[in-house]
Amino acid sequence: MQIPPQLQAQVDEAISHYPVSKRSASLPLLHLFQEHFGYISEEMIQWIAAKLELEAIKIEQIVTFYPMFRRQPAGKAHIRICRTLSCALAGAEGLKTTICEIAGIPPLRHANSAESPISVSPDGKFSIEEVECLASCGSGPVIMVNDDLYERVTAEEIPTILSKYR
Ligand code: FES
Repeated sequence: MQIPPQLQAQVDEAISHYPVSKRSASLPLLHLFQEHFGYISEEMIQWIAAKLELEAIKIEQIVTFYPMFRRQPAGKAHIRICRTLSCALAGAEGLKTTICEIAGIPPLRHANSAESPISVSPDGKFSIEEVECLASCGSGPVIMVNDDLYERVTAEEIPTILSKYR
């Protein structure tokens, strides 16, 4: 697999922080790859494992354990919706349904599925993921679209919010 020189340099720099055990660079490398490619593929797992002189299963286990690692590319606009208590009580579940309907995203198959924690619209424009607290508990329901935070979101606001990312 071809790794762009800039990513290669970042990888080498991250590994240099762990002179005693390269294995400790597993998480930083996975973050770098997800930041760069948007997800973690099987090929990337193999590449990282070889680079760190580990069995691929060791990297696979990390990817499976941490829900922040995606196994498929997200949409152009990635929506995170908080499912923690305050937002749940403020109507996050219904809001999620509305977002999926308006963005054309198939319903999430399984909120906790390590295999598919996100759902992507067929046109690749939008994806959605349920996440834990987005640190704005007093103003739920809360969503993030890419890096933009939206608070006290109502179903009526969803078309306007999504139109910014179409
Ligand atoms: S509970 Fe939703 S932001 Fe904290």
